[in-house]
Amino acid sequence: MWGGRFAEGPAAVMREINASIPFDKRLWKQDVAGSKAHVAMLGATGIVAPEDAAAISAGLDTVAQGYAANGVAEDLVLEDIHMQSEARLAEAIGPVAGRLHTARSRNDQVATDFRLWVRDAIDQVETALTAFQHALLTRAEEHADSVMPGFTHLQSAQPVTLGHHLMAYFEMIARDRSRFADARVRLNRCPLGSAALAGTGFPIDREMTAAALGFDGPTRNSLDAVSDRDFAIEYLTAAAQTALHLSRLAEEFILWASQPFGFVSLSDQWSTGSSIMPQKRNPDAAELVRGHSGRIIGCLTALMITMKGLPLAYSKDMQDDKPPVFEAHDLLGLSIAAMTGMVESATFRTPRMRAAAEAGFSTATDLADWLVREGGIPFREAHHITGRAVKRAEELGIALDALPLEDLTAIDSRITAGVYDVLSVDASVASRTSFGGTAPANVRAAIATAREEMA
Ligand code: ARG
Repeated sequence: MWGGRFAEGPAAVMREINASIPFDKRLWKQDVAGSKAHVAMLGATGIVAPEDAAAISAGLDTVAQGYAANGVAEDLVLEDIHMQSEARLAEAIGPVAGRLHTARSRNDQVATDFRLWVRDAIDQVETALTAFQHALLTRAEEHADSVMPGFTHLQSAQPVTLGHHLMAYFEMIARDRSRFADARVRLNRCPLGSAALAGTGFPIDREMTAAALGFDGPTRNSLDAVSDRDFAIEYLTAAAQTALHLSRLAEEFILWASQPFGFVSLSDQWSTGSSIMPQKRNPDAAELVRGHSGRIIGCLTALMITMKGLPLAYSKDMQDDKPPVFEAHDLLGLSIAAMTGMVESATFRTPRMRAAAEAGFSTATDLADWLVREGGIPFREAHHITGRAVKRAEELGIALDALPLEDLTAIDSRITAGVYDVLSVDASVASRTSFGGTAPANVRAAIATAREEMA
């Protein structure tokens, strides 16, 4: 491609360190689409004769068919997907292929290809996250009344419903989706026509290429356009945040599937056995989702570090932008699909969850609230009285609502039999009707709203 200036070819290692084709071949569809939009514009503006433009466009279709049928050859001599496609084009249509690269550089070409690829990636994630949310909604609806312990510090805190707990993840994913959607808006500007860095003297039509590729318009500054990878970083930021959420749910499933918890049994499809311990049923998929989240966060860090010291405009370091994005996208796709499958197929062991909620004195706050409401006692004093009741129940090895009334009145004479109405875990969750609270009625309302928003 630059033989005019060079007497000797590159060293073998130079060839290897320089080549991006082993990974950027994933951009082939975007590369062909970008070239087709470019050459259509060159023909329409008369920069290239219309018949040459038509021949190039048809040739690009041939190149695409070849890629689709045989894959993209990893020819290190041809360095990257852009030079690979141009070489294939020359094979298909001869020297007229050389007119394609008029008023264009690989710098604006790769920036365009990569934006198109990340845009598709965002759309794929959006579809996958929507399916995941539907799975959460289905299971949340099924378990709108199922009582489980809610935790703080991983200590039993107050009873909640499993439906409410699952809907917490629905909310996280809703925010993730909005982050991807937001990133897509800023991404959707077309760098093509920025050429190497300064723009071009040819009378190109950037609105035309931008529109042909589904962009909202062209980027506004050529230097920025060829050196900007914000769109990739924003994709990775949203991916990292999503992975973090999946990892927290994975961690809960791992914990819940352990024998001391026994809250969930993951289906055979999402578990593995042990080669030595026959009784084992391991939550490997959940562990890998937890593990993959670390790698995805690493991809974000890698690209930010690649970019942070680069002067304007293009530097070859930027070729390293693609592997972390590809890796993160693949890992995220697997993680979302695995968590969706696990949520859909998990058996929630609701009797265990209920027993755990009852065992942890988790209605202590309800007792304190009752003292405030019925006895007019200041909350701080009610807290103290309740603490003594918990201590007494602990001594007797029984639940709070199993404490005999005389034990309660011995602690405070203002307590009456009416207190038992609030001491059960069901009464506790049913009472949490404040907006966003865990009461089954609220959970059902939240699910209905979510379904409306998703429709
Ligand atoms: N393979 C290169 C990349 O991904 C394409 C751009 C090359 N531009 C250049 N001036 N060397 O970044």
